Amino acid sequence: MAGYLAKASTNLLRKNISTYTALLRFSSSDTKQYENIIVEKRAENGCVGLIQLNRPKALNSLCDALMREVNEALDTFEQDESVGCVVLTGNERAFAAGADIKEMQNNTFVGCLKGNFLGHWSEIAQKKKPIIAAVNGFALGGGCELAMMCDIIYAGDNAQFGQPEILLGTIPGAGGTQRLPKFVGKSLAMEMVLTGNRFDAQTALTAGLVSKVVSKELLVDEAIKTAEKISKNSQLVVALAKEAVNIAYETTLAEGLHFEKKLFHATFATEDRKEGMTAFVEKRKANFTNN
Ligand code: HXC
Repeated sequence: MAGYLAKASTNLLRKNISTYTALLRFSSSDTKQYENIIVEKRAENGCVGLIQLNRPKALNSLCDALMREVNEALDTFEQDESVGCVVLTGNERAFAAGADIKEMQNNTFVGCLKGNFLGHWSEIAQKKKPIIAAVNGFALGGGCELAMMCDIIYAGDNAQFGQPEILLGTIPGAGGTQRLPKFVGKSLAMEMVLTGNRFDAQTALTAGLVSKVVSKELLVDEAIKTAEKISKNSQLVVALAKEAVNIAYETTLAEGLHFEKKLFHATFATEDRKEGMTAFVEKRKANFTNN
């Protein structure tokens, strides 16, 4: 009994420490100040990058400057070896209510073409480090598309997903017609894109758009905990794993399996693969060095 209690209290302590480390903030001098986003490092040793979209008065609508800042912050985290995973979030009312309609209202076709309007958005899906979208409130239009460019989506219980572009006389332009059918199937994707209807977190979970629904207050902490867990793995191997999963959306099964096998073989060239298997055999925790 005493042994059981000691184990239970150790487990409780561990759980509290893990919750505590998920909430740890690092001084803002570690990260750059931006106009439209707030960037911090969280969790143990600042291993999780946190980007919060911060245009609350406009429901975090995605103006050009904001998207450029998100890209810049992600690139900074890509270069920062202490960061293994990034969480992207908004506030409790809105993840993002779409591209900034006021900014694009007077655009012309020629203007879009000449400036490759919103072309740089897709760079977000090319990052090597995993990104978890923590979505509370509205994720509409470009907001839903931005979440889908991330690798994992967690939803707060108040989340609403939608592609309302049709109501503005346009269509999704950053993956809504392409990623959505792959994630939720044709019928729901078609309904979202053709009606502009919004769907709640539970529907998103059932459809496979999100992997977890959490109460809105706990959402970001939950995403940070998962990000911290990912960060403790080998960054090198995590990047290969991310690339392998993403290839499933780009290619045939045969080609994807071939690609996966090559990346699997490639892990045998890393110190971290050697360390991971040696640690298992020696019954100890692996100490990955990203080599
Ligand atoms: C600019 C926006 C905005 C947007 C909201 N706002 N969404 N501004 N672009 N996408 C602004 C409003 O103008 C308003 O500013 C303030 O945010 C609060 O919004 P309200 O409408 O007053 O709030 P509410 O009544 O609660 O309604 C919330 C809402 C609604 C349902 C989310 O705002 C809405 O329908 N927004 C537009 C959603 C949308 O159509 N998204 C798709 C955009 S096109 P003021 O100054 O009036 O107080 C797109 C294409 C992507 O995303 C292509 C990518 C390549």
